[in-house]
Amino acid sequence: MTDEPSTYSGPTRVLSGVQPSGALHLGNYLGALVKFARLQDEMDTFIFVADMHAITVWQDPAKLADQTREIAAAYLASGLDPAKATIFPQSAVTAHAELAWVLNCVARLGWLDRMTQFKEKSGKHKERSSVGLYTYPVLQAADILAYKATHVPVGEDQKQHLELTRDIAAKFNHDFEAPGFFPLPEPLTQGPGARVMSLRDGSAKMSKSDPSDYSRINLTDDADAISQKIRKAKTDPEPLPGTLEALAARPEADNLVGIYAALSNVSKADALAQFAGKGFGTFKPALADLAVSVLGPVGEKMRGFLADPAEIDRILARGAAKARETAAPTLEEVMKLVGFWRP
Ligand code: TRP
Repeated sequence: MTDEPSTYSGPTRVLSGVQPSGALHLGNYLGALVKFARLQDEMDTFIFVADMHAITVWQDPAKLADQTREIAAAYLASGLDPAKATIFPQSAVTAHAELAWVLNCVARLGWLDRMTQFKEKSGKHKERSSVGLYTYPVLQAADILAYKATHVPVGEDQKQHLELTRDIAAKFNHDFEAPGFFPLPEPLTQGPGARVMSLRDGSAKMSKSDPSDYSRINLTDDADAISQKIRKAKTDPEPLPGTLEALAARPEADNLVGIYAALSNVSKADALAQFAGKGFGTFKPALADLAVSVLGPVGEKMRGFLADPAEIDRILARGAAKARETAAPTLEEVMKLVGFWRP
């Protein structure tokens, strides 16, 4: 179904979101936040805090709103500018839930049964997972389609959800005889820092759920913590090789060079050329200095924003109002296409 060419001819728009379900780390920063900030200069950009997705697994109600403010602070600290991008909490715009219901009735069980993220997250006890966790990708489709977003910067792990979004959009357009009503959105997954791995295991993604804090660099880590984690990062005894092919066979070394490249905004080949033949005794301190110089100010800015939660709330409220305004006409058209009563 996704082979069907999109006949959508509306404007391009970027949309993405991050869940407020734990501390952000270097992987989120390089893989998501920096990209969002770059895109806001090129396209109409909507970036939200996915608090409705977060509650598909238990979240402490006493902490959720602060977690949302923390993601907003990270967005702002990473360079997202509320004058350019629309920044808002998902739950503040009811269009997401309204459209999600309609799309739940478009998506097929067989499509959701194939979602690998649900299988991973529900584990051995599928019957104990929330229904929300199962239908999570449909809410994600609603997030995107409520704004008719055409481009969605996400990690590789979200590609399948984007394919599902395209299938849902195409089926909606077809079933309700509205060709080109919804765009078939494209994932934007490329770029340096697309995949930051654990500092303890070069074959596992850097993750907030890894039990070892040494596996990741948190955005709020201070200079000492950052340096120490890089010093203790797993490596091998060989000096750095001269070619990317040789580097690829050494996942931990590959990851650290990738991080160096992304943080200094150069290609991996260029980063490698700087350190080929040098040992980790030389490379790690250079990487630590670089990480501290890039992330130190981000953490500081984040703390600055968090010290003024009222200002964060004003930014989120303005973003929510703009998001509501943008989604409203699409929702109204959806209700009409579906045939719901309207006075
Ligand atoms: N599922 C995404 C993640 O975990 C977060 C997300 C929710 C999202 N809705 C979205 C990303 C819409 C892009 C577009 O990373």
